[in-house]
Amino acid sequence: MYEHDILIVGAGLAGLRAALESIEAGKNTAILSKVHPVRSHSCAAQGGINAALTDRGDDWEDHAFSTIKGSDYLADQEAVEIMCREAGENLIELEHMGVIFSRDEEGKLGTRRFGGQSVARTFFVGAITGSAMLHVLYEQTVKQNAQVYEEWFVTKLIIEDGECRGVIAMDIHSGKLEIIKAKSVILATGGAGRIFEPSTNALICTGDGLALAYNAGASLMDMEMIQYHPTGLAGNGILLSEGARGEGAYLLNSKGERFMEDYAPEYLELASRDVVSRAEQTEINEGRGIDGCVLLDCRHLGKSKIEERLGYLQEVATEFRGIDLAEEPIPVKPTMHYIMGGVKTDFMGQTDVPGLFAAGECANVSVHGGNRLGANSLLDTIVFGRRSARAAIEHASQINSISKNTDELNNETKRIQNIINRTNGERTATLRNEMGEAMTSGIGVFRDTRSIELAKQKVLNLIDRYENTYIDNKGKIFNTDLIFNLELKYMLDVALTMCVGAENRKESRGAHYRTDITERDDQNWLKHTHVAKIDGEVQFYTSDVNITKWKPEIREY
Ligand code: FUM
Repeated sequence: MYEHDILIVGAGLAGLRAALESIEAGKNTAILSKVHPVRSHSCAAQGGINAALTDRGDDWEDHAFSTIKGSDYLADQEAVEIMCREAGENLIELEHMGVIFSRDEEGKLGTRRFGGQSVARTFFVGAITGSAMLHVLYEQTVKQNAQVYEEWFVTKLIIEDGECRGVIAMDIHSGKLEIIKAKSVILATGGAGRIFEPSTNALICTGDGLALAYNAGASLMDMEMIQYHPTGLAGNGILLSEGARGEGAYLLNSKGERFMEDYAPEYLELASRDVVSRAEQTEINEGRGIDGCVLLDCRHLGKSKIEERLGYLQEVATEFRGIDLAEEPIPVKPTMHYIMGGVKTDFMGQTDVPGLFAAGECANVSVHGGNRLGANSLLDTIVFGRRSARAAIEHASQINSISKNTDELNNETKRIQNIINRTNGERTATLRNEMGEAMTSGIGVFRDTRSIELAKQKVLNLIDRYENTYIDNKGKIFNTDLIFNLELKYMLDVALTMCVGAENRKESRGAHYRTDITERDDQNWLKHTHVAKIDGEVQFYTSDVNITKWKPEIREY
């Protein structure tokens, strides 16, 4: 059995930022990750991180308003105020740690304008911002000799007397299950994009932390809010950053028209993502697409700007489509990218379960509401990663000792051995593909009662069939067959909460656009949806949205 004050599950930006805070406070801290930290999905974030720097004449309240409008008024306004107010100091701290942000002509920190923002306040490192930040934070944890359980996989949270007291986790190298006790556990496991196919997300984004928290009794909030990014590459859905539109790229339909003029005359391609994705899907549905896509046109930016500012996009375009962005537009389509919903937390990352905290994409603070603005996710990870550590430290310091109880280890070992022992049944991948297709068609850019119900019935069917899945690899060492199987169960649990949220929210707001109820309904639905598992039953309830000073208005771009 291992023991720590603070255990952080997940080593992306939120997890590493939390770890630094906890180590610097002198706590016995460990990070656990199913992949090497710099392979975490944060490394795929491209376009940048938002901050309104007051010494450059920007205003955090304007950033807050853009975020709240972008959220379609579902974000909790006090949480948004915290994030936007603290953005500047967090950004400068990252720069001082060593993140080499791209510069403007005067050599100052450069900015580009991102969707839904009234001004350019997105700081960036070319089109590899997440990767640059992740490497710097990882270096800082190495400098601090952080303990990392690298390539370990959590199978269960330990709950004792209603409080989280650690995890049961598998060392993937040996296949052995171990108990890791902790006074506070922070979930920073990222998103759940692979519930959908295609997705811009890495294959590791399987909703592990969401499912762990849900199965431990925490509520998941606003799970119907699924972000479709307007520029996923045709076919495999690889992200082509909003940074391209931030640098001036256009979207064109099959007639060569810059169609965003019809949907968002002021903001055009830089309207919020839900608005741009719906516009694209409308063009495609009404026959003005090209093979189910529209075109992203960067040609007028010129080769040198493309290579300097959007080098990573040029690489993807060349390698996956044989396209030089300076010569030819590239086909793109709305692609599942982010979940605005997550484990409900307060501003300090506290979930409904004492001792359990969450930060980053797996958490819902809620700063994104019905639609996240581009480049607010990196900011969220840093601001609330740090805050969650502060609360976890405070919680840990009130606990004197941890029980040595190891009862649950045997049950968990038996459960997993049963999966390994099964010799026939269905394959994990079959179910995973069926889930991905059902969720994309049922909980898509556009949805309605019937499509949501079909997705839900499919997910329930897959949950039953999951019990009859089997794996070929019966070995202990690096059994990825087994990990994929365990991840599938996490995804199915989370997919069900998305369907339950979607069926219950009887309005259109943000990314939840129902073709059978097209209006936003502030009278009845200025509310968060919650799905929780209580006594083994899926329960649904709502709570009020926190409004400070921005009253809901008609949202136009
Ligand atoms: O388009 C992008 O670069 C993605 C950024 C984000 O999701 O924040």
